[in-house]
Amino acid sequence: MKEHNEKTCCCYCDEDKREEYEKIANVIDFYKGREGCLIQVLHAAQEIYGYLPLEVQKFIADKMDLHLSEVSGVVTFYSFFSTKERGKHTLRVCMGTACYVRGGKKLVEALEEMLNVKAGETTEDKMFTFEIARCIGACGLGPAVMIDDKVYKQVSPAKLRSIIDEYYNDEEEEEEGGGEE
Ligand code: FES
Repeated sequence: MKEHNEKTCCCYCDEDKREEYEKIANVIDFYKGREGCLIQVLHAAQEIYGYLPLEVQKFIADKMDLHLSEVSGVVTFYSFFSTKERGKHTLRVCMGTACYVRGGKKLVEALEEMLNVKAGETTEDKMFTFEIARCIGACGLGPAVMIDDKVYKQVSPAKLRSIIDEYYNDEEEEEEGGGEE
């Protein structure tokens, strides 16, 4: 057990994020006292905040009366937790053996150039977080790419470009639609 921090309420809230912190505090209240609930709390916090920066981890540690190292340990252990701000979409290029031999590496290079990011990074416009996957279950029709839950098979660099363009076009339409209201 750690020595409890005197500050108990929203000590890390900046005005912009007050609502998110309040929601996270509610989740913690809901789970409080339940054995092994840290992972659920972190999941919910990531859902609410988008990612788990250090200040959110500190907030959770304080509220749950845990050491920050306990919280950070869990966050870094599980790959589904992210400490960096993520894009609206997660784009994964498969570099499993089957996809690799069918051209996965070319897709990675094309993407790095198209989006100006390296694996693990998020585009400046926060549209895509680019990651490498080890197999996404489409080995026979590689190289494969996954955007959020959608799998694209037999992807070439040209096809990848048009897929990405589609996402940007949809985004523009969404924005224009939103502007008309
Ligand atoms: S190796 Fe790429 S989908 Fe299996």
